[in-house]
Amino acid sequence: MNILTFRTNQELNAAGAGIITGLIQTNPRAVLGLATGSTPIGIYEELVSSFKKGLVSFKLATSFNLDEYAGLPLDHPESYHAYMDQHLFRHIDMPAAQRHIPNGTAADLEAECRRYDLLLEEAKQIDLQILGLGHNGHIGFNEPDQSLNSGTHVVKLRESTRQANARFFDSIEQVPTHALTMGVGMILKAKTILLVVRGKDKAEIVHEALTGPIRTEIPASLLQTHPNLVVLLDEEAGRCFH
Ligand code: F6R
Repeated sequence: MNILTFRTNQELNAAGAGIITGLIQTNPRAVLGLATGSTPIGIYEELVSSFKKGLVSFKLATSFNLDEYAGLPLDHPESYHAYMDQHLFRHIDMPAAQRHIPNGTAADLEAECRRYDLLLEEAKQIDLQILGLGHNGHIGFNEPDQSLNSGTHVVKLRESTRQANARFFDSIEQVPTHALTMGVGMILKAKTILLVVRGKDKAEIVHEALTGPIRTEIPASLLQTHPNLVVLLDEEAGRCFH
């Protein structure tokens, strides 16, 4: 595990984007695992800027997003489809057919999960998986539980997660109750994992997840078992490591 702490957001974003562009420059066909939420936005901005400067092309790359809300229309501004389009896809040259996000509006959500797992299987392995961290230790939408799923599955969101995400909606009632998410097993199969955490409100959970006992009640603690884990923290999130 390699934990890097940055003084400024700008340095953190540049480091995160640098890891991704470096990968694609050496392996243009790289398979990226992407996250949404507030954490990676600055990294995506840097990626767009590198693309615009001609430093990287995503033409041959493929991407798989971690998760999507269930039942939210794909063009809803808070859907993860809309997020990815707004923050990354519309600005870069990755062909639409190479970008994958679970479809939370599918009539049969279980079938959609199987379809997504088949696509992931065909892609063989995610080269670099970007992750944010939930306040309760969730990764993707794998919430704390007695056991964790390996493959893509439908989850009921914890109230704490819905509350944390309510800031993006007009009211908590509008936050979907369920989501589709890649499983922890699939996340751990990625060649490299890039965990990004910002802010003092996540200082304790990131410290506990990376140094405490490995247990399914803190899904991110399973990342300790991964052979290639890179963690990018801002100073506030890294407070407990000093
Ligand atoms: C998003 C995702 C979530 C977020 C986590 C942190 O695709 O999988 O696990 O990474 O909820 O969210 P932010 O970054 O908004 O604090």
